[in-house]
Amino acid sequence: MRLLVINGPNINMLGIREPSIYGKEDFHALQELVRKTCSQEGIEVELFQSNHEGAIVDKIQSAYGVMDGIVINPAAYTHTSVAILDALKAVAIPAVEVHISDVKTREDFRQISYAGMACIKTYMGLGLDGYRQAILYLKQYLNEHGVG
Ligand code: DQA
Repeated sequence: MRLLVINGPNINMLGIREPSIYGKEDFHALQELVRKTCSQEGIEVELFQSNHEGAIVDKIQSAYGVMDGIVINPAAYTHTSVAILDALKAVAIPAVEVHISDVKTREDFRQISYAGMACIKTYMGLGLDGYRQAILYLKQYLNEHGVG
């Protein structure tokens, strides 16, 4: 089983950026958590982070025929990007949305998620553990749908 884990803009600033909202753990810790979870579960993983919308669209397209599942935190592009929504729909790879913070309790402009419309599940407000839970959920979902 192959998973692609995508992080959008400013997620590389974890640990520095607004620690009261996003926590004190840095981006390296997030990457290590994802790698450790996948290795324990026998999953091949590729991690990708970009601050650029088009680069994220390109990466989603490149997953077609290659990846079995996608975990995505589109960060601020969650609330603006129809292009990322369309890319997820185009490749039709099962995707799970993750947000470190509890977006539901934040500003009005964060209340819409375009990418989430193409995702089978969303985890939010669980800190970095949301990524671990998303990976476990996707593994179970893919197993149930015949991907070993
Ligand atoms: C975020 C929530 C977004 O609203 C925000 O723009 C981010 C991070 C989260 O993980 O909580 O950059 O996706």
